[in-house]
Amino acid sequence: MVGKTMLLGSAMIAAMATTPVGAQPRDGSIADVAAGAASVTPREDGIDYRKGRLVMRITALTDSVLRIRIGRDGTLPEDASWAVLPAMRAAWARVTPTSDGFRTDALVVKVDAKTLALTVTDPAGKVITADTAQPIDLDGTAFTLRKALPIGEHIYGLGDKTGGTLDRRGKTFVDWNTDAYGFDSSTDPIYKSIPFFIGVGGEGGSYGVLLDNTWRTWFDFGHKAADTLAMGGPDGPIDYYIIAGPTTREVVRRYTDLTGKAPLAPQWALGYQQSRWSYGSADEVRRLAETFRKDRFPIDVIWLDIDYQDRNRPFTIDRKAFPDFKGVVKQMRDDGIRIVAIADLHVADLPNQGYAPYDSGVAGNHFVHAADGSVYVGPVWPGPSVFPDFTDAGARAWYGTNFKGLLDDGVSGIWNDMNEPAIFDTPTKTMPLDNIHHIASDQFAPRDATHAEIHNVYGMENTRATYDGLRTLRPNERAFVMTRASYAGGQRYAVTWTGDNSATWDHLKLAVHQMINLGLSGFSYGAADVGGFTGGPSPELLTRWFEIATFTPIFRDHSAKGTPRVEPWVDGPEQLAIRRRFVDERYRLMPYLYALADQNARTGDPIMRPVFYDYPQAIGASCDQSMSFTLGGDLLIAPPPHMESPQSYDVCLPAGGWYDYWTGKPVSGTGGNGLDAGVQAEARTGAGGGEIKLTETPALDRLPVFVRAGAIVPRQPLVQSTAETPDGPLELDVYPGDDCGGTLYADDGHSMAYQGGAYARQTVRCTVTDKGISVTFGKRQGSFAPWWQAVRVVVHGWQGKGSATLGNNDVPASADAANETISATIAPPTTETTVTFAKD
Ligand code: GLC
Repeated sequence: MVGKTMLLGSAMIAAMATTPVGAQPRDGSIADVAAGAASVTPREDGIDYRKGRLVMRITALTDSVLRIRIGRDGTLPEDASWAVLPAMRAAWARVTPTSDGFRTDALVVKVDAKTLALTVTDPAGKVITADTAQPIDLDGTAFTLRKALPIGEHIYGLGDKTGGTLDRRGKTFVDWNTDAYGFDSSTDPIYKSIPFFIGVGGEGGSYGVLLDNTWRTWFDFGHKAADTLAMGGPDGPIDYYIIAGPTTREVVRRYTDLTGKAPLAPQWALGYQQSRWSYGSADEVRRLAETFRKDRFPIDVIWLDIDYQDRNRPFTIDRKAFPDFKGVVKQMRDDGIRIVAIADLHVADLPNQGYAPYDSGVAGNHFVHAADGSVYVGPVWPGPSVFPDFTDAGARAWYGTNFKGLLDDGVSGIWNDMNEPAIFDTPTKTMPLDNIHHIASDQFAPRDATHAEIHNVYGMENTRATYDGLRTLRPNERAFVMTRASYAGGQRYAVTWTGDNSATWDHLKLAVHQMINLGLSGFSYGAADVGGFTGGPSPELLTRWFEIATFTPIFRDHSAKGTPRVEPWVDGPEQLAIRRRFVDERYRLMPYLYALADQNARTGDPIMRPVFYDYPQAIGASCDQSMSFTLGGDLLIAPPPHMESPQSYDVCLPAGGWYDYWTGKPVSGTGGNGLDAGVQAEARTGAGGGEIKLTETPALDRLPVFVRAGAIVPRQPLVQSTAETPDGPLELDVYPGDDCGGTLYADDGHSMAYQGGAYARQTVRCTVTDKGISVTFGKRQGSFAPWWQAVRVVVHGWQGKGSATLGNNDVPASADAANETISATIAPPTTETTVTFAKD
């Protein structure tokens, strides 16, 4: 027990949090700040320390989530946040005090009262995260926190930061939202600041850290010192969260409990999306749509970039190019194509010209001010522009009303770009740091704040204004917003893309890493411009990009003005045919994809995941897995790690058995024979504990995809848009194996009615028996009647003939020897129902 001074009573605790006391601390490490040990005050939900004027409070929000706040002048940082939901900040778990800290049911928290070094272990004593001996440094307003980075720990998250590898270990990063046109795989910072990372592979399992500070923070994951993880900032609150796992899945779920889940996207957002800077006229949009339909290339969305506007002025329309804007939007909608339109955050600086967004904004005093008190004006697309003060709830509400016209014209979604915010003609690419924003929002005490503090949340609050505006204007519609800049928690308001990437193989690889890390950082709907924004892809690069994008959350083809076109047909019929085959497949997989979106909205599990999310042992796999990922855990996509190289490569499939997605046949030694002829397979079950290693030879028209043995994957007949009702039965592909199951999900695809129960959700399980296999549908939940009138159950890996029964009745079954399947078509069950397939 280290010199513990018990201060009793809540009044004393409260006093400590508000009263500056003690001698002026020297800057430097906490051990130096005041000799001796800190005074300690236990709390029902944690513990307080005080050392000189330094205070530290550690509280348990839940048994597995800790919040640490450190104040340097005797007061704790304000209990407010842009990222963390108020209900979570208010949550608390009762803790048991110990001699040097406290414990919860899941964690043991120990603090060295001299240095304030914090160690968090699991109940068995395995270290989850531990501070170094010199854990806290203060230097003026700046701070540094240091934790141990054990050998074997890998770091993920931090949004879509670059780095060239999925793992962030050995690198440093800065959070400062930046218009990073022309970025490459080592550019930092870029557009977003998501100060959340996950440590994977330590002895106590995976854990996450959210540093909830909006200033220009930085992270060093073993770069300066290989065994040290450091983070800090130039100013602002020292307020961070430790989220224990032990699995990565638990960390991500808990992180999204803290910062919010991405709301269920409209189903059309999962379809193919065509963009270009810019489709510049109604005629061009019509011709584009006609080509898609003529080519039988499915599409759900066409995007309108800045040129649909009058002189790039947000909330206007160029009436020469779009004389009947509403008409063309309707025509598209009738053809199953939604329009998403850009509306950048800046407002053209046009006093006395009848430009309502400016006039009403000025009238309400809704714009950001310069240090001298005038409204700040900076150049962006429309020329001189003013900037809504999004940290003010009143300004957000006003901004949201500006979308009425676009919604009345039938636009389905809004694209918020340039919201770092980007400012032209200035070396910093953004507004002056001493610009003045007003905070009047959430639980913050109302006050003015400099741009240096607000910069990193500005884009997120822009999307919040848009999202809330759309929801207010159309309360029964899901709001679809796409953003370039954001902060932790921004997934509550918008999907995101990775900004102005380039048409290179390196960027395709980077895009995969960015989308995986976005998913681990709460942003489950990630996108990267398919084909690359700048540069113009080779036919092969564009085709590969289509193939990989097929299995990513948001699939949007987009390119810059003045670059070669990248619509699917630009490289001739052969490339088009490959691209179409993949996009067709995405539309067939739509029920699977949409069920993942539903799962994501409820749990936070990403749609696109690193393989180790569902298969933790994959972290040590013996293959180069730098391009591998899963779509919802059951589909493993394994592009070549060196895509531009024709050399063969190894794919490691985690233990448990796998099927080839394209042939439907098993590739594991366990489930059967018949390896796909296209796979130079060398399936060995062994050292890796059942891991399968395959050797793949790259071929442009082939992307290796595998299905987990035990997956049940719903698919549908091909449609040209999600607006079209599929013609034929829902197909349920059953891939026998352990832990066999899958989920069906349907709703109307666009409204909020699912929140009132208008959905259909159903789990399906399978059990392999000596005689065959039984497939059991659970009771269907929800009141929505899905489109399917029949369900075709297809069991893979089936040898020989067989028969099927539904309950006690025989149903026709057809075995297909060549494809090694047996199938039966049944009426959609709504109550618990079992279909049994038996070998003859
Ligand atoms: C920015 C965006 C890009 C867009 C362009 C014009 O560069 O990142 O996607 O096309 O602005 O609006």
